[in-house]
Amino acid sequence: MLYSLARPLLFTLAPERAHELTLSMLDTAHKFGLMHQKTAHKPVSCMGIEFPNPVGLAAGLDKNGAHIDALAALGFGFIEIGTITPRPQAGNPQPRLFRIPEAKAIINRMGFNNDGVDQLIENVKAAKFKGVLGINIGKNADTAVEDAVSDYLICLEKVYNYASYITVNISSPNTKNLRSLQSGDALTELLQTLKQRQLELAKENNHYVPLVLKVAPDLTPEDITFIAKQLLKFKIDGLIVTNTTLGREGVENLPNGNEAGGLSGAPVFEKSTECLRQFADVLDGKIPLIGVGGIVSGEQAVAKQEAGASLVQVYSGLIYTGPTLVKDCVNAMTV
Ligand SMILES: Cc1cc2nc3c(=O)[nH]c(=O)nc-3n(C[C@H](O)[C@H](O)[C@H](O)COP(=O)(O)O)c2cc1C
Repeated sequence: MLYSLARPLLFTLAPERAHELTLSMLDTAHKFGLMHQKTAHKPVSCMGIEFPNPVGLAAGLDKNGAHIDALAALGFGFIEIGTITPRPQAGNPQPRLFRIPEAKAIINRMGFNNDGVDQLIENVKAAKFKGVLGINIGKNADTAVEDAVSDYLICLEKVYNYASYITVNISSPNTKNLRSLQSGDALTELLQTLKQRQLELAKENNHYVPLVLKVAPDLTPEDITFIAKQLLKFKIDGLIVTNTTLGREGVENLPNGNEAGGLSGAPVFEKSTECLRQFADVLDGKIPLIGVGGIVSGEQAVAKQEAGASLVQVYSGLIYTGPTLVKDCVNAMTV
């Protein structure tokens, strides 16, 4: 209810300012014990992890892991923080975040603005949260794409002991050439290297942390088949489908609809769910799938399950519906 009261005011502010203000209000409300959304216990066992419910927060909302406890109070079954890069970076110039309320959509070209992996770890250490925490890793903008593997390795090693699972993000459209890592030898080399290091770290630390890949929705059937083969070959533990789209279907004629960046929210639902369905088809249950993209109602979370997802994540839907979306999705889903 609080969110429906605050939303009209927040929507008068620039989106990035509203984002920061919402998170700080959330922190304050949590600090004074004013916010706690109870969601049903619907446990899901996936990648060797017990999730209290199948609805997670998608990456990008809490890039530095600075609001974990407050976000956890919204009743998520898991929280994914990041994308984090080895070194802090400012991201793209503002404005870089755009609302398209007529379509319940967002376009962003944030460009991995973040405080760097070391700060993220400090934030995780300071949090009281004991639930399932995904940490999403990427590369710095000024690291050449040919050297991307070394950035992912740095992050993998540093976050290994703080994450329930680690997401390798190669699907943001806002870091130059990042999506080229989704194909050919670049993908093979990345997955092979990270898998090998994951196994070494598991041995050294006596504790296995699953490795998950996150892909874009703008993939051809050939891309999907290729990626699926690589995932199986290197025994990657899970796949997040999908990130934002470069497409503009559903927003072309709306204010902000042609801003550069990745489109998320309601208009990406069909494309993202179709991509999920195709991966489910090719992977045939061999690797668990996390469905994300355009969920703005409980029914759509169920549709992701029906398309093959074991778990779902939300981001843009939260901006338009508020925290009740988490509850609606948990209630609607059958586990
Ligand atoms: C403002 C914004 C920032 C995002 N930043 C990241 C990010 O840093 N890393 C990432 O993997 N995904 C990022 N995403 C993508 C979301 O995690 C999600 O995959 C995508 O928005 C589709 O889901 P949705 O329609 O529920 O928003 C971002 C999305 C938005 C709207």
